[in-house]
Amino acid sequence: MEVSTEQNKTSFIKNKQMFSQTPLMPVNPIFNPSGDDRTENRLIWFGNTTNLMQLNDVRYSWAISLYQQMRENFWIPQKLDITQDVNDYWNLTIEERYAYEGILSYLTFLDSVQTCNIPHIKSSVTAPEVSLCMAEQISQEGMHNQSYQYIIETIIPSDRRSAVYEFWRTDKVLADRCEFIAKLYQKYVDNPTPENYFVSLLADYLLEGLYFYNGFIYFYNLASRMLMPGSADIFKMINRDELSHVRLYQQLIPEAMKIFSHSIDLIYEMFATAVAYECRWTNHIVGNNILGITEASTEQYTKYLANIRLRAIGLKPLYPEKKYSKSPYSHLERFSDTKKEAHTKANFFEASVTSYVMSSGVSGWDEI
Ligand SMILES: [Fe+2]
Ligand SMILES: [Fe+2]
Repeated sequence: MEVSTEQNKTSFIKNKQMFSQTPLMPVNPIFNPSGDDRTENRLIWFGNTTNLMQLNDVRYSWAISLYQQMRENFWIPQKLDITQDVNDYWNLTIEERYAYEGILSYLTFLDSVQTCNIPHIKSSVTAPEVSLCMAEQISQEGMHNQSYQYIIETIIPSDRRSAVYEFWRTDKVLADRCEFIAKLYQKYVDNPTPENYFVSLLADYLLEGLYFYNGFIYFYNLASRMLMPGSADIFKMINRDELSHVRLYQQLIPEAMKIFSHSIDLIYEMFATAVAYECRWTNHIVGNNILGITEASTEQYTKYLANIRLRAIGLKPLYPEKKYSKSPYSHLERFSDTKKEAHTKANFFEASVTSYVMSSGVSGWDEI
């Protein structure tokens, strides 16, 4: 149920006052009997929740729709057939195999830190319907790690598996990347001020909205050349989950921008740094060595993604040139399956359909 403009205004003023009096982000008590869960008094942050999941009369109805969609996206990695990939692996070029393993290693890092960090962000969320989405997100990030384990244990030869999990120990570019991402989250954990909370939230959005996609593109690219179709099937499902997380942060960040002290310059600076790191890593692990991907297409795609993610939170594009207004990989969209009303076929080289999707109230997700 939406509240009136007047109520919104009152809540906003109250929010502002609470923010200015709050040196550190409050963490919700386990149970707060003196809390007030009335719809009109609910707030995403700085509210006074009992901490009961009272979901019958919510304020943020978008969260209920999103949660429903996230649940309907349910899937199990081990149910997807990746046997063809076991043979295909040996037909990859050395560069393709290097990229395949490096990207798996990087994505394992991303989902690991998400599983670890989202509970920190969630512990200060005072609207139970939003907290519910984050609980589902945490579960999905954990399951994504299980998918990587399934791929690594099935496809990668046993003597190479540890090297994939621990690539960050030996690869300086990956280690720098991991440390940069973790540092922004750690800053809030070490010093949980509202300013650092906002930065952590934005860092989450960058991870969800920018950091996965050159990796996804790599797998769709291989699949478009009839290579590693099982891996692409799994990444389609992860891609769909990640886009639901992007949607969550696209709702949260404009709300946070009304409440938390922040600078627009800082947001643009974070986006520019994120783009630079993403290009550096992708050029390092994929570069110009893979058919269908070049350093120029990586740059175009990453800047295009940054632009659409900024627009989605109400900000102007960082890269206004025309070429950054479209994806260089639109020909791979049919492999991503993100525009098909969240309905995904397993192994697109087969005629049979395996889907855990029961129904869909949302038409498509996003551009790849
Ligand atoms: Fe994930
Ligand atoms: Fe995610």
